[in-house]
Amino acid sequence: MNITINKTTEPKQKPQDESSLGFGKIFTDHMFLMDYTPEKGWYDARIVPFGPIPVHPASTVLHYGAEVFEGLKAYRTADGTVQLFRPEANAQRIIDSAERLCMPAPSVEDFVEALKTFVSLEKDWVPHSEGASLYLRPFIYGDDHALGVHTVHHNVFCIIASPSGSYYPEGINPVKIMIEDEDVRAVRGGTGYTKCGGNYAASMRAGERAVQKGFTQVLWLDGVERKYIEEVGSMNVMFKIDGEIVTPALLGSILPGVTRRSCVELLKAEGYKVSERLLSVDELIDACENGKLEEAWGTGTAAVVSPIGELSYKGKNYIVNDFKIGEVTQHLYDELTSIQWGKAPDKYGWVEKLD
Ligand code: COI
Repeated sequence: MNITINKTTEPKQKPQDESSLGFGKIFTDHMFLMDYTPEKGWYDARIVPFGPIPVHPASTVLHYGAEVFEGLKAYRTADGTVQLFRPEANAQRIIDSAERLCMPAPSVEDFVEALKTFVSLEKDWVPHSEGASLYLRPFIYGDDHALGVHTVHHNVFCIIASPSGSYYPEGINPVKIMIEDEDVRAVRGGTGYTKCGGNYAASMRAGERAVQKGFTQVLWLDGVERKYIEEVGSMNVMFKIDGEIVTPALLGSILPGVTRRSCVELLKAEGYKVSERLLSVDELIDACENGKLEEAWGTGTAAVVSPIGELSYKGKNYIVNDFKIGEVTQHLYDELTSIQWGKAPDKYGWVEKLD
């Protein structure tokens, strides 16, 4: 890929206090852009100063939500090297998401090359402090200037980056989650397994209601029977029930998380009993009531591994593990972050260093 680079003449001041970065609020000096039409394929790969992108008022993305995105991070290790975590997995997932929305996506190789070139240019923006990283947000949007509903002709692939700390204000402390039994997020055959903007737009009403009631986020049930556990808006979920680690199976309506997959692989390699299966809310509540729910946590790129300290269902609240981070949750957090920040050997071959 031929990537042209137009560097900013007005570099911004980098954050001085990395302890108060929050998530996704500050952006680096540049962004990556590339266009697509069926005639030309992907063309004009370029890195340009970060700034507003002109959007036509009739653009497909504004009217029909033609948009898919990814989230991954660049980490700085103790010796100053910058590394990515499983970028090929994100590349493959955006291909799968785009395919569902009838949109094109760059090849795995081009996606990773674009990311690496972009992050190399923005290297000084990768935070130095413990727990902070450079969050990368690649996305593709449809940009035809016409109101007919049809496969998009002109698409844009963009990458922006944001030095970020923890996703939740709670940090690694347990979050409170409300099991949502009214709104649904996705159904099989729909877009649940994709990372498309529309899935997140549809989740906001329930998320807002949960926040009003003092919860951090909602835990979705399946969209047909409202019976089976699916995922939390920004993370997949895992439970330790009577010694067994259970996470909802990937049946088409939940996101195939890269962190989820890494946790499953890691736990299986260590000999834990892990089941990817249907888990009904009744089974989960029964486990809460009978003291069999030992731990609950979420997994996600932004959220990393996040303990769940309280679950609420139909107005009843259940405290998990005395609202403390559990043993397996802590272990997963430590293992994963040690690999990501280069503190432990990369025994699964998940890390990609920048040249
Ligand atoms: C991520 O974990 O990267 C996400 O995309 C979740 C959320 C911030 C939308």
